[in-house]
Amino acid sequence: MIAPSLLSANFTKLSDEIEMLNNSNADWIHLDIMDGVFVPNLTFGFPIIEQIKKIAKKPLDVHLMIVEPERYIKKFKDAGADILTIHYEASIHLHRTLEEIRAFGIKAGVAINPHTNIELLKNVISISDLILIMSVNPGFGGQKFINETYEKIEETKKLINLKNKSCLIEVDGGVDITNANNLYKYGADILVAGNAVFSAENPKEMIKEIRSLKK
Ligand code: DX5
Ligand code: ZN
Repeated sequence: MIAPSLLSANFTKLSDEIEMLNNSNADWIHLDIMDGVFVPNLTFGFPIIEQIKKIAKKPLDVHLMIVEPERYIKKFKDAGADILTIHYEASIHLHRTLEEIRAFGIKAGVAINPHTNIELLKNVISISDLILIMSVNPGFGGQKFINETYEKIEETKKLINLKNKSCLIEVDGGVDITNANNLYKYGADILVAGNAVFSAENPKEMIKEIRSLKK
């Protein structure tokens, strides 16, 4: 699957961008929420998500790069999140918060930074619908892909096979046509792509192309 990230979209033409995604092969629409504390950048919040929800025809995959995400679970659900992913590094009571997300009837994801060992998720995989492996340091689009990600996907796959076979693996950061095929081969189920999609001459074709690399 592929989840284009709106972070690299043209926000002055947001409805056109969403319309393009609606008519593309994109599976989910990835929304990056940054608070200027967990990451050195700020993006957008509830009013924008609510407006996107009104016109989007694909599930909203909301990636929270915020501290204390437990304070806002209901608000993100009400704004329209279909998948809500919180960072391991930002959640003191990760287990409780994942259960809370699921209790709202939406999918719960855990994201991990490049420095975080996947073994630390061993005790929450059984209550997670997806693991989001950051393949760049979170905060910005258009960064260089970190090669150690492949090894991490393999390790995650092993844990998933032991603990919860239906848990998905999402990879986020620096994904493009040069690495997508390998990422799928190593076991990624969903690839997030921002810059690669929105800086392409034909974003719709690029979405199709990346998605087709899953063999
Ligand atoms: C980075 C975000 C990513 C970002 C990916 O903190 O989580 O979702 O938009 O952008 P690219 O594909 O440009 O690396
Ligand atoms: Zn993201």
